[in-house]
Amino acid sequence: MGYFGSLLAANLYNRIMPKGKTALLGFVEEGIFSKQCVNVHSPIYDLYDLQLRNWEINSKWDLGQKYDTIICLGTAFFAKDPKDFIKRCYEHLNEGGKLYVDFALGENLRFQNFKIGWVKDWEHEYAYNEYNLAWSTVWDDSFLDNKYFKFFQKCAHDFGYNDIKQAIFKEVPKILDLKFVKKYFTVQVEFYGASITWANEAKKRPILYILLTGTKK
Ligand SMILES: C[S@@+](CC[C@H](N)C(=O)[O-])C[C@H]1O[C@@H](n2cnc3c(N)ncnc32)[C@H](O)[C@@H]1O
Repeated sequence: MGYFGSLLAANLYNRIMPKGKTALLGFVEEGIFSKQCVNVHSPIYDLYDLQLRNWEINSKWDLGQKYDTIICLGTAFFAKDPKDFIKRCYEHLNEGGKLYVDFALGENLRFQNFKIGWVKDWEHEYAYNEYNLAWSTVWDDSFLDNKYFKFFQKCAHDFGYNDIKQAIFKEVPKILDLKFVKKYFTVQVEFYGASITWANEAKKRPILYILLTGTKK
């Protein structure tokens, strides 16, 4: 299954309503986005991605202009300094602009053993090359009450996880405190979770996506 299988894409992408001039961060082609996002009809997009060599999330990036909407899906977890990422998004948005950014838990990119976060037993998840490491997620204690989070928690029990919050803080090197995002944006949080068969394994692995929709304050 590729990133955002059809189940998750249907749920997540439909929430996104780009308005005005839009920057897609972590996209190499607009087709990936526009095909799956039913709310887009005549998109005006600029694409930014490591592979396009015009954006590196861990650099002091500057897009050279401001946007009405910034969309960053399946990519923000590469941020080693997620606070810096949020601040840069804020600076690149026009007044009242929208930020859509997601984070994941239980996403296993390279290694066989299931983990909640990105680092466990000396294995550090990466993608594209072994230096392009996954670093971050977002956290707020209110997540513990969410039904998708509870489902994720229940499934993770099968993999020996008893205290999910503790595991997240142990296995994810950089945790973005939702309170920090709220300093810059009015934020709505949505979750999508699933238990999926991964890499021909019989045992299903839970995966959780956390979508933040921020309106610039
Ligand atoms: C999992 S794909 C997501 C693609 C698309 N956004 C989507 O939702 O289907 C991750 C994307 O992030 C880009 N990427 C990976 N590491 C990056 C980095 N350090 N800086 C900028 N982009 C990066 C990859 O080239 C890839 O296009």
